[in-house]
Amino acid sequence: MRRCLPWADAPSAAMSAVFAAEAARWRDRLAWETAPLWPVLEHARLTRTLPGFVLREASGAVTGWTYAAVRDGELLCGALSAPDIAGTAQLLDGVLALPEAGTSTRIVCFAFTDAPDLAAALAARGFLLDPHEYLTRPLAGAPAARRPGRAWDVRDLDATAELFRASYPAGDPGRPFAPYSRPAEWQRYVADLVLGQGCGRFRPSLSIAVPGPGGTLDAAAIVTDLGAGTAHLAQLAVRPGLRGAGLGAAMLASLSASCLAAGFTRLSLLVGASNTTARRLYARAGFTPCAWFVSATRAGRAGETRRESTAA
Ligand SMILES: CC(C)(COP(=O)(O)OP(=O)(O)OC[C@H]1O[C@@H](n2cnc3c(N)ncnc32)[C@H](O)[C@@H]1OP(=O)(O)O)[C@@H](O)C(=O)NCCC(=O)NCCS
Repeated sequence: MRRCLPWADAPSAAMSAVFAAEAARWRDRLAWETAPLWPVLEHARLTRTLPGFVLREASGAVTGWTYAAVRDGELLCGALSAPDIAGTAQLLDGVLALPEAGTSTRIVCFAFTDAPDLAAALAARGFLLDPHEYLTRPLAGAPAARRPGRAWDVRDLDATAELFRASYPAGDPGRPFAPYSRPAEWQRYVADLVLGQGCGRFRPSLSIAVPGPGGTLDAAAIVTDLGAGTAHLAQLAVRPGLRGAGLGAAMLASLSASCLAAGFTRLSLLVGASNTTARRLYARAGFTPCAWFVSATRAGRAGETRRESTAA
């Protein structure tokens, strides 16, 4: 008989097998070396800093798992792996029953689509779905190309946040980052990219800032290192009034050449399935999909309460 248990109660040996399988999946599917992340997650599990669940079979084997983190009042479900449809549902219901789900304004799930029936299970539980494609292209043969602008500098942090804010729709409650487009949300997003490890190790010299008038940026590209020879384009944006003139393609060509020169063998990125302009740009540049993720969001119970009281 299978049970869905708090992951803190699972034995470390079973969890190291789970983490090893997950690390292999990221390496094989995405050419992303995640080895340094798992000890951090294991520490958070054992100290009960992050809630999570495992599916434990009668044999003692752990066949599925998920975990969640609270950030800025939101509950973020960062991974979900299950052996079958029932397992997917058990893990999701575990997350939704967490006390943290009751005190969060929003619940966000960002995971591989591999868990059986994940998208349908999320939709059935009121989540708004935003599928994402994970694209990759080999860098061999990328021709030398002139870099528009200059290398990114830490002093570009605020201007980059302002550029991204201007580049994306003003409010998009289904967006996993900066849903309300507040300046502080975009500043946090950029700080996470350049200071955090969640999207690889930031490489400022391979990233691009194209200066605009009055200390603003016309365009920017943020590049990180995923290990395993993979450079990752974590964000690319061109100010709306300057689009359609080839700046996006020029930045892509230039950073591809500099990543190749820096020793990387492939370039990867994640793009929303509905972002047709960006997908066309990447298809023309030779990117092909190697994995799919689902980004799903729904109001948490605190968000619902807040909306009801605002409406009243
Ligand atoms: C995606 C994005 C960076 C593209 O930037 P861009 O500078 O407009 O890109 P390009 O100009 O190189 O290409 C865009 C279009 O202009 C066309 N174009 C390029 N050079 C051109 C020229 N000289 N004359 C006319 N059209 C041209 C391209 O053919 C392309 O057309 P298509 O999309 O209809 O096929 C930009 O739309 C953006 O910032 N979007 C918001 C942020 C975002 O979604 N980023 C991607 C995250 S994964």
